[in-house]
Amino acid sequence: MKSVRDLDSPAVTVDLDIMEDNIRRLQAQTDSLGIANRPHIKTHKIPALGKLQMQAGAVGITCQKLGEVEVFAEAGVADDVLLTFNILGWTKTERLMALSRRLKRLAVVFDNEVVARGLSEAAKRAGVEVPFLVECDTGFGRNGVQTPEAAFDLARLAMRLPNLRFDGIMTFPNKEPTAAFFNRALELFRGAGIEVPVVSGGGTPATLTLGDFPMLTEHRAGTYLYNDAMMVHSRAATWAQCAMRVRATVVSRPTDTRAIVDAGTKVLTSDQYYVQGFGHVTEYPQAAVSGLSEEHGTLDLSRCAERPQVGDIVHIVPNHCCVVSNMVDTVYGVRGGRIEAAWKVAARGLVT
Ligand SMILES: Cc1ncc(COP(=O)(O)O)c(C=O)c1O
Repeated sequence: MKSVRDLDSPAVTVDLDIMEDNIRRLQAQTDSLGIANRPHIKTHKIPALGKLQMQAGAVGITCQKLGEVEVFAEAGVADDVLLTFNILGWTKTERLMALSRRLKRLAVVFDNEVVARGLSEAAKRAGVEVPFLVECDTGFGRNGVQTPEAAFDLARLAMRLPNLRFDGIMTFPNKEPTAAFFNRALELFRGAGIEVPVVSGGGTPATLTLGDFPMLTEHRAGTYLYNDAMMVHSRAATWAQCAMRVRATVVSRPTDTRAIVDAGTKVLTSDQYYVQGFGHVTEYPQAAVSGLSEEHGTLDLSRCAERPQVGDIVHIVPNHCCVVSNMVDTVYGVRGGRIEAAWKVAARGLVT
């Protein structure tokens, strides 16, 4: 076991005590609410971490990309997988069918007839049955049918297509209008005598209000595993619950109030969403990560009483941990200053 001090920078580390606690907390929360926990592995893309989530009690995993399903199936992480992306075209549907044969349950989502028909044709060719959830836009403004009636209609249409099996409805993320949307949709299905086995919600910020959605049978959180600056800003986590840090070296102090570190957009990513700056410096909480170029990170130290020197190491909690995972080959698991694990980010870059 090497000391974390031996790590060259920049490097992405994960505090194992914090990460394990994050896994335990979400599992305990979903258990206490009687909701199945189906973590989204796009946050880490590391099969060993998916196995930890499964050992803690997850019912299966969520993937966003076929490449992630392939890597995680190969590693034997879970035999119950939900792929939350519209899968279109011959190449992808053929890959999906190959995976369907390997896994006990590989469910998909869709929000339109084109995808449903493509999946049905591929499933018929392959002689497999594909379980599906209808994706609903319950307030986020991304994919998803726009009304409960449209969810019901699409489900009924797809149920009549060969080799598809209706498994339920899903959304991302649970927002305030989700409850009314899902309740109305469930009423429509009930009225038609159609069972809805799965009602799937998602999102780490949504764990704050999970108890307000009693109709959910499962929840998909991803970011909760590491947490990041976005989660702190949305009050879903504290800084002490952020496990991922980018370890960086101060390489220049051009002025009294400016430091430059060796981590730029190619490690920290340029993601900001609703967060100001590009991360949180744990040793200098008053510092602002005010700018990034590809290989340089600029720290504004004007509000800091103590200031780092050239050669000092700092640890930065990134804004968006899921994208940082896709930036590096290896993530280091650290406990008490020692490196306990060097995980290959096996599904890194697998975007198809
Ligand atoms: C469809 C879907 N489900 C679940 C999640 C997990 O959300 P979070 O990362 O906020 O936990 C995401 C995140 O992008 C998602 O797109």
